[in-house]
Amino acid sequence: MADKLLSRYEELKTQVNFHNYRYHVLDAPVISDLEYDRLLNELKRIEAEHPDWVTGDSPTQRAGARPADRFEKIRHPAPILSLANAFGADDARAWLERVIKIDDRVEKAKFVVEPKIDGLSVVLHYRDGLFVQGATRGDGEIGEDITSNLRTIRSIPLRIPVDSKGPRPPKYLVIRGEAFIPIREFEELNRKLEEAGEKTYLNPRNTAAGSLRQLDPQLTASRPLTLLVYQIVYSEGGRIPTSQWEILEYLKALGFPVTDIARRFNDLESAITYTETWNEGRDKLPYEADGIVIKIDDLTLAAELGFVGKDPRGAIAFKFPAREVTTQLNDIGVAVGRTGVLTPYAMLEPVEIGGVVVERATLHNFDFIAEKDIRVGDRVLIKRAGEVIPYVIGPITDARSGREKTYKPPSKCPACGQAVEHFEGEVAWYCVNAACPAQLVRNIEHFVSRGAMDITGLGIKIVEQLIESGLVKDVADLFTLKKDQLLGLEGFAEKKAENLLNSLEQAKGQSLNRLVAALGIHGVGEVMAGDLSRTFGDLSAISKVSVDGLQQIAGLGPNIAESIVDWFSQPANQKVLKKLKAAGVWPVMKKDEKKKEGTLTGLTFVVTGTLEGFTRDGIKEYIEENGGKVTDSVSKKTSYLVLGENPGSKADKAQSLGVKIINENELRKLTGG
Ligand code: IVH
Repeated sequence: MADKLLSRYEELKTQVNFHNYRYHVLDAPVISDLEYDRLLNELKRIEAEHPDWVTGDSPTQRAGARPADRFEKIRHPAPILSLANAFGADDARAWLERVIKIDDRVEKAKFVVEPKIDGLSVVLHYRDGLFVQGATRGDGEIGEDITSNLRTIRSIPLRIPVDSKGPRPPKYLVIRGEAFIPIREFEELNRKLEEAGEKTYLNPRNTAAGSLRQLDPQLTASRPLTLLVYQIVYSEGGRIPTSQWEILEYLKALGFPVTDIARRFNDLESAITYTETWNEGRDKLPYEADGIVIKIDDLTLAAELGFVGKDPRGAIAFKFPAREVTTQLNDIGVAVGRTGVLTPYAMLEPVEIGGVVVERATLHNFDFIAEKDIRVGDRVLIKRAGEVIPYVIGPITDARSGREKTYKPPSKCPACGQAVEHFEGEVAWYCVNAACPAQLVRNIEHFVSRGAMDITGLGIKIVEQLIESGLVKDVADLFTLKKDQLLGLEGFAEKKAENLLNSLEQAKGQSLNRLVAALGIHGVGEVMAGDLSRTFGDLSAISKVSVDGLQQIAGLGPNIAESIVDWFSQPANQKVLKKLKAAGVWPVMKKDEKKKEGTLTGLTFVVTGTLEGFTRDGIKEYIEENGGKVTDSVSKKTSYLVLGENPGSKADKAQSLGVKIINENELRKLTGG
């Protein structure tokens, strides 16, 4: 009876381990979670009755051991080597020439190309097929015994071969791989930590290393660690393959996770070509890779080439440009944008990332600095990837000396000194002073832009000139400029001055909705400006409406209402309005301009891409004249997306929401045109 139960127990262990492997290594389970749980529960029941039967290869024993108080040292059975770096194809070719000089058999060598995973190098020991010990790399000679932690990694087989049809391993087998946390899982982990209000991790590499080099296996078990193996470090009592390509196949057959992007090539040039495709393709990998490794396939030949220090001559790491580096945070500066948003940025000890020297990096917003506890003087991790502006990931708290200073966000705008403000529901802080010099250039740029007052002949250079000369201190000053004042500026002759004055004169006739949009009130774009104009008729009326009164406009919520009231209550802004009125820039919306009724009444449109028969403003006016509404972003409420050439992401969004997509001719048909 007991015999029968014991053999059932052995069978269950094999089965559960096998299904673990199907799930965690092959990513291809063959039974449902429910069936898996059933097997596991049966196994647990037997173990509860017969605790003396339990062995180390039982799947229940992954996070069994109690926390240790320190790691034991382990001497590796053979040195755990490093790799020399190559930066680019020529470096790789130079490497080949060097080794050919040492041994001309390399001329005919094949090459295996593998990803160089940015994780933690680990060494796994198997005796008689059982996982008995695992270590960190340490100094390459002696590592730390992290067996209990490694046992919690589901993709590490506790017994090999995992599949009974697999090859029989040598009596003693020591292999090497790279433990890591996949990018998606890392992001998910950080998302959960953030939700729980806990501190998030810096990057997958540090998190993987930290999780394995701490003493509690339960904590390791809770981290989404996995690994890929690539080397047999040592073996006794059995034969192993002698080429790298066959080693990868062999390890895979034993049940280890092995990369699926490795390739073998007959010459270095083909290997380089493949390697270079990963320069751009690295983001397609589910883990962080810091390069690609090119290895001479023939391991006997590779070993005979010897080493330079700890670097074997038989392989080379083809490094990707770095994306993350650490440097000193010397100070935190604050920039003021057009809308008055204050954005903190890091002033860094200059550092090179991927061929570019970085001295500044964004810190996103003040909440970010507080959440990450970033202090002035900290060593910080910086990331620069692709087209994205460099940003600070977070502080290296271990590097602190105690002299770092906690940062306090400014209570006053660094450019004009006016108290900064915060709007409910937003993280940003704003300077709402329209005459703030930091905002002035961008404010005026926006004021004169095509979608706003549409004043031609006022490029950024001239705007800067006007501000620097003191002629323009706010947007209203534009309308009182005199010809002789302009002639006093560099580059202004009669004609240019006259042209500018003419277009300013013309702008006085712009419609109210354009003027409202031009003021740059936070949250008020072209669409909202149109609604405000049609509802209230002129600026003095708009300025008198309360927060509640404003909310009678559909789609105008309490936050924007507050921001509008706030804008009009600023003395500096009131002064601007007074000056505009005095200068004759005071459009009023007449009754007949109020909301049009037409074939498009009740329909909401979003326009994307370049159109043939309309300008951007033109199509908006066309839709509005026919009673329709135009908004900037696609939502479920959008009736139609009008699609032009080279559309952006709006088209994808419309498609995913099932919003009807039409072209400009179909739009004309809708209006009966
Ligand atoms: S081969 C002789 N292959 O990169 C074997 N290393 O300095 C030498 N690494 O920290 C290493 N992926 O842990 C090799 N496919 C791969 C690798 C790899 C990541 C790591 C390794 C070490 C560093 C090389």
